[in-house]
Amino acid sequence: MALPLPHVYSGKVRDIYAVGDDQLLMVTSDRLSAFDVVMAEPILHKGRVLTAISAFWFEQLADVVGSHLVSTDLADLPPEVGAADDDLAGRIMLCRKAEMLSIECIVRGYLSGSAWKEYTASGTMHGQALPAGLQESDQLPEPVFTPSTKSDVHDENISFAQAIDLVGEELATRARDVSLELYTRGAAIARERGIIIADTKFELGLVDGELVLCDEVMTPDSSRFWPVDEWKPGATPPSFDKQPVRDYLESLDWDKNPPPPPLPTEVVTATSARYIDAYERITRRSFSAWPGVA
Ligand SMILES: Nc1ncnc2c1ncn2[C@@H]1O[C@H](COP(=O)(O)OP(=O)(O)OP(=O)(O)O)[C@@H](O)[C@H]1O
Ligand SMILES: [Mg+2]
Repeated sequence: MALPLPHVYSGKVRDIYAVGDDQLLMVTSDRLSAFDVVMAEPILHKGRVLTAISAFWFEQLADVVGSHLVSTDLADLPPEVGAADDDLAGRIMLCRKAEMLSIECIVRGYLSGSAWKEYTASGTMHGQALPAGLQESDQLPEPVFTPSTKSDVHDENISFAQAIDLVGEELATRARDVSLELYTRGAAIARERGIIIADTKFELGLVDGELVLCDEVMTPDSSRFWPVDEWKPGATPPSFDKQPVRDYLESLDWDKNPPPPPLPTEVVTATSARYIDAYERITRRSFSAWPGVA
């Protein structure tokens, strides 16, 4: 995709452009990564779902912290941008450019992934003791802020003291408190709507000295989403969004290195349906009303 704007960065999922000096345009593609490899097939509407879920959370949680979001409406972009690509509607976020904190604000409400591994090895999570006898995927006694460094290569867990060294005590404390509040509020809404947000990563930044919530928020890509009715401590629940892809890839003799194997159409379709289902459950809104869908 090439837009008539200065290109800033492309990640696995997003393409970012500069809009003037103080704004960014984030375009979220339909690319899907599994086991850290980007699949060859786009997942129809996935970028719209991620954009729509983030926009919902920015709106719901605005009283906790301000956000970088300016608009998700194509009409707010210069007309030549919209004209350059007819698939942009619904997958764009015009944002205020922030000076990103150099930490990733991870919050865990359930014991899974690397945290479960650490717990089985040492009875701790992020270096802090947890009650004995917890099972895999158990809910934690309370949500825990487990920050990491922000690195292109490999994010590393850091203690709260190290977070203070990186961003200063005032910002680290505020980032922790804001992240815990965002997660607690968001996870409660999602849970009553059938989805457990087991853990998630927030990215915070400064705009004109004000701490704001940036990037994507509590999406299936930045979080572990589990269906409430399939959660049972003692095992890993299926991933709400990626399970069809993971199951398919696990059924193959693939070493998880690029290139990825081709995905059958049924797997692509099932995955798209699950992303859309996640949006509709969490927001109780119809996805067909979102720009670019109908
Ligand atoms: N308002 C903002 N101002 C400046 N940078 C931002 C803002 N919001 C998000 N970012 C940054 O933009 C980038 C988003 O890129 P993207 O999510 O595509 O890639 P990534 O997170 O680096 O890698 P991955 O492909 O693993 O997701 C991140 O580096 C994020 O920190
Ligand atoms: Mg990202």
